[in-house]
Amino acid sequence: MTDVFPVNGMDAVVFAVGNAKQAAHYYSTAFGMRRVAYKGPETGSRDEVAYVLESGSARFVIKGAVRAGTDLARHVAEHSDGVIDLAIEVPDVEAAYRQAIGAGARGLEEPYSLEDEHGKVMLAAVATYGETRHTLVDRSNYNGPYLPGYVKADPIVPAPEVRNGRIFQAVDHCVGNVELGKMDEWVEFYRRVMGFTNMAEFIGDDIATEYSALMSKVVADGTRKVKFPLNEPAVSKKKSQIDEYLEFYGGPGVQHIALATNDILTAVDHMRAVGVEFLATPDSYYDDPELRARIGKVRAPIEELKKRRILVDRDEDGYLLQIFTKPVQDRPTVFFELIERHGSLGFGKGNFKALFEAIEREQDLRGNL
Ligand SMILES: [Fe+2]
Repeated sequence: MTDVFPVNGMDAVVFAVGNAKQAAHYYSTAFGMRRVAYKGPETGSRDEVAYVLESGSARFVIKGAVRAGTDLARHVAEHSDGVIDLAIEVPDVEAAYRQAIGAGARGLEEPYSLEDEHGKVMLAAVATYGETRHTLVDRSNYNGPYLPGYVKADPIVPAPEVRNGRIFQAVDHCVGNVELGKMDEWVEFYRRVMGFTNMAEFIGDDIATEYSALMSKVVADGTRKVKFPLNEPAVSKKKSQIDEYLEFYGGPGVQHIALATNDILTAVDHMRAVGVEFLATPDSYYDDPELRARIGKVRAPIEELKKRRILVDRDEDGYLLQIFTKPVQDRPTVFFELIERHGSLGFGKGNFKALFEAIEREQDLRGNL
């Protein structure tokens, strides 16, 4: 079967925030990311500043409004800090855009090019859930630090003392929260528009009603480089964590970004030491003989995982280690996941119960359960 929508991978996760200068500092010090590019009033960008940060192939673009009255300023006023764009690198922007529009996607920007002394970039954008977009980027003829309009910038702080000076190697997956009853519509959207297919892992009614009050399905491109799980709230006795998100974000949007790391133990040690808050997993999770039997031998002693509250899951392909931060802004909306994969292509389904119980404890503390 021919791929109707070939992709090279994630290009960038673009955030709109209330104070980009401080957010860029947080992701530099706490997440160990490296500033590589910048634009702002000094470089001719009158209305907005943007800091481009990288760790491995993971690229964050942190945007802030310099003045009121712009679309970016309105977005931040309405949603507070959040993700506005999950940009995807594609080999052919024209073809990708035509395919998307032909399959019913809403176009936001028709294909156009930007040029500077580093070459030429092709861009276009289509809408997805809420106010989120997918910019489509072809940078194969470009060797500048990010995009035309940006200038090269030095790291804000020295690299953290971890292997290669980088904590993360890539964006692993990006999760969206949508309204009750809309998950299947968006799964269908990605199937039709981008030719993405369902990955096996999903949470149906059984788990939904018992623990988490959410339903989840995962779509991915044929090469599994771009993976988008989608959640919707499910009806249950307690208020769904997805409902809390939708209420405080003011609609559908990106719930969490999972970052792939090749050393989650060191990553957690570094991040915790500089103040990143992670969800707590109770001792009972690690002391459960069933867990120990199920996960078998993993690369670190379980005591080391327990000390850091790192979760483990295993499936037929291998295992993964993962941990989740608390929300990283004032509103209980966007958070991050760190994931270290050893063969497993899953998302930690075996940990959903422990994870959701931890989230519910936090929701309860906020008075939102
Ligand atoms: Fe995840």
